[in-house]
Amino acid sequence: MTETVREPVTLTPVLSKHWSEAESWTLESYERNGGYQALRKALAMTPEDVVTTVKDSGLRGRGGAGFPTGLKWSFLPKPDGNPRYLVVNADESEPGTCKDIPLMMATPQYLIEGAIITCHAIRAERAFIYLRGEVVHVYRRLLQAVEEARAAGYLGENVLGSGQNIDIVVHAGAGAYICGEETALLDSLEGRRGQPRLKPPFPAVAGLYARPTVVNNVESIASVPSIIDNGSSWFTGMGTAKSAGFGFFSLSGHVKRPGQYEAPLGITLRELIDMAGGMREGHELKFWTPGGSSTPMFTAEHLDIPLDFESTGAAGSMLGTRALQIFDETVCVVRAVLRWTEFYAHESCGKCTPCREGTYWLVQVLRQLEAGSGKPEDLDRLLDICDNILGRSFCALGDGATSPISSSIKHFKDEYLRHLDEGGCPFDPVKSTLFA
Ligand code: NAI
Ligand code: SF4
Repeated sequence: MTETVREPVTLTPVLSKHWSEAESWTLESYERNGGYQALRKALAMTPEDVVTTVKDSGLRGRGGAGFPTGLKWSFLPKPDGNPRYLVVNADESEPGTCKDIPLMMATPQYLIEGAIITCHAIRAERAFIYLRGEVVHVYRRLLQAVEEARAAGYLGENVLGSGQNIDIVVHAGAGAYICGEETALLDSLEGRRGQPRLKPPFPAVAGLYARPTVVNNVESIASVPSIIDNGSSWFTGMGTAKSAGFGFFSLSGHVKRPGQYEAPLGITLRELIDMAGGMREGHELKFWTPGGSSTPMFTAEHLDIPLDFESTGAAGSMLGTRALQIFDETVCVVRAVLRWTEFYAHESCGKCTPCREGTYWLVQVLRQLEAGSGKPEDLDRLLDICDNILGRSFCALGDGATSPISSSIKHFKDEYLRHLDEGGCPFDPVKSTLFA
């Protein structure tokens, strides 16, 4: 039997191509590198043709869920003369996820140009960028970028003489993880407490101010200019058949060179770790998350799984936000899971009982287990609570909170039991710090 030889995968810097240039965030730098040619091209196309190009490219939502972007745009009802909106979800908060913030800091004009093209495609006159309140530096950068684009005629009335009026409002939230859930984000943007709405209706039908609204992640919108510039087949030429194109893979934790690696979907963690210089000296991979803490964890057995939507799903996890948090053998998995669960309990919005009460009790049980004062039956108790949250919560936050627990018990049950046998955590937390 002949073994299939995998072609060597190389990085595909598109959005990060100019990050190392001086003042890469300015409009002048962006235009020097070909910026706003895509907008000119898009304005010469009909909105329907722009939607078709993005549909044909196979671009799928880069916020985690992977819903086809062009298809989402096409769900908007026919224009009726009333407002319709684009809302960019820049409320990046998933533990480990750190791709949109560097993108908005280094080259914010990709997002601005992508948002203008999207407004043209969906016939919206106004886009909102909803940003985490804590990242004041990004807020200032976006305000400056919008101002520069407006002064150059890319925003405002009669964009580039096209007869279209398009503008962008940058809005800073108050820093709640739940406001990254698209309908909680819309409530927050409308000035209410951010809590998820019942879906359907989806925002495409009744979103901001009950008007048709497209909600897309920063990276999805920022990818649009390159697709318009280079064509849909350029994009489908990267990645896999069902997970086309490139994306950021954010490596954090115990690798030699953590950071953003822009690569075709379908790359493996083994390849990415090689690109990141390997694991820190003298240590080996123990567990990792493919897409932040809401995605079930993987182990060293999963190093060769292609990081695309289908393969990660078939292997029992999800691609999510491609936030690859990498932990070596010095890390206590129970402690890591406890830390994540404390985060979910803190961020639970309290709207539904399974998540509000369940995440509280998960933390109580995990704290006892980690301290070595739990009981063997606590593992079944944890799984039972997870079972009462998963699929019974109002939004994805509840489901996500169960992923690290159930996957860690699946892969590391012995380590939980070791805490009980040894009457405490067998790991030295100092050894797991990066430079120890
Ligand atoms: P979802 O699968 O419910 O929806 C995805 C998108 O498709 C939404 O915009 C939704 O409105 C749209 N959609 C789905 N079905 C539709 C239909 N029939 N008609 C019209 N539109 C439709 O996923 P959700 O709850 O929006 O996102 C969950 C994901 O978010 C998780 O997979 C996780 O990876 C990710 N996430 C990302 C975070 C971050 O910081 N970027 C934080 C937390 C979670
Ligand atoms: Fe709120 Fe959690 Fe229920 Fe979502 S699952 S609505 S975050 S309580």
